[in-house]
Amino acid sequence: MEHFIKFESRELGQELVELAAAYKANPTLHAEKGKGKRVGCIFLNPSLRTRVSTQIAAQQLGMEAIVISMDKEGWSLEMQEGAIMNNGTVEHIKDAAGVLGSYFDILALRAFPSLTQKDEDITDFVIHQFIKYSGIPVVSLESAIRHPLQSLADQLTIQELSKGKKRPKVVLTWAPHIKAIPHAVANSFAEWTLGMEHDLTICHPEGYELDPEFTQGARITNDQSEALQDADFVYVKNWSAFNDYGKILCTDERWMLTEAHLQHAQKAKVMHCLPVRRNIELSDEILDGPRSLVQQQAINRVFTAQAVLSKLLE
Ligand code: CP
Repeated sequence: MEHFIKFESRELGQELVELAAAYKANPTLHAEKGKGKRVGCIFLNPSLRTRVSTQIAAQQLGMEAIVISMDKEGWSLEMQEGAIMNNGTVEHIKDAAGVLGSYFDILALRAFPSLTQKDEDITDFVIHQFIKYSGIPVVSLESAIRHPLQSLADQLTIQELSKGKKRPKVVLTWAPHIKAIPHAVANSFAEWTLGMEHDLTICHPEGYELDPEFTQGARITNDQSEALQDADFVYVKNWSAFNDYGKILCTDERWMLTEAHLQHAQKAKVMHCLPVRRNIELSDEILDGPRSLVQQQAINRVFTAQAVLSKLLE
C-alpha cells in the first residue's frame, strides 16, 4: 500500500479490518513499530475525531504525530501551477509539501472540497498535489471526494455487529441539513460497502444522485420507507446535490430518521460519522437509543487509523 486515499480491493479492506480488530483487542500489539518515525497531520479544515484518533493511533505504534491546523496556524497555500502570487496566498504547495515531505515519514491531510469548482473537486486536486510534491506516503483524513478512514471504521463496525450474516442489508439514507455538505462520507461509504460486497441501497430525494463513480452496484431509490424495510444497518448522512453542484435542493424534515421510520426494520442499527445536527439530521430518540452505533464508530476510528499507519510503515 503506497498511499491510503481510497478503497483499493476487498482483500486489502479485509486485511485492514482484521488488523484494526487485533489492535482493538490489544492496542499496544506493535508498540515499537513506529519508533523514530513521524506522521504530520495537516488540517486545512476543522476536525475532532479524525485529529484525535489519528494522534492516539500513532502513539499506540510508538510514532510521533505532529498536528498542524493550516487553516488557523499555517500560511495560506497556493495550489495553481504557474500562479503569480500577488494576491492572498503566501506559500506554494510545491514548496510547503516538499518541506513537509522532508520532515515526516507519513503525511496525513484533510482538505474539503470548494463545492463551487466541481471540475477541480472531482479530481481530488489538493490531495494529489500533496502526493506529487511531498514524495512520501499520504493518508487522506477526508479529501474533496472521499473519507476512507471513516469508511474503514464503518466497515469494522458493520463486521462487529453482523457476525453470522455474510451479506447484511445496508441502507445509506440522505438526511436534511442547514448547510451545503460535501459528498465525501457518502461517496466513500458507498465505495467501501459495495467493495466489501454488502447489499447496499441508497435513498435520497430527487436531485441528490451521488457521482455514479461511487454507486455502481447499489440499488438507488427516492422512496425512503421502501428502502428501509428489513435493513440491518442504516447509515444516515446529508450531502448537497452533485449534479446541481453544491446546492441545497430539499429541506423536507420528513427525511430525518425517527423510530417511526424503522417500524419495518426492527433490528436495524443506525450509523452516523458525527458530527451530527441533532433533531435536524437524526432524532434524539435514535441517537440516544439502543440502535445507535455512533459511539462505536468513533471508537473504531482509533484502531482503523492504527491499522492504516501500521501498514504504511511496512
Ligand atoms: N467523522 C469525522 O471525520 O469527524 P471529524 O470531522 O470530527 O474528524
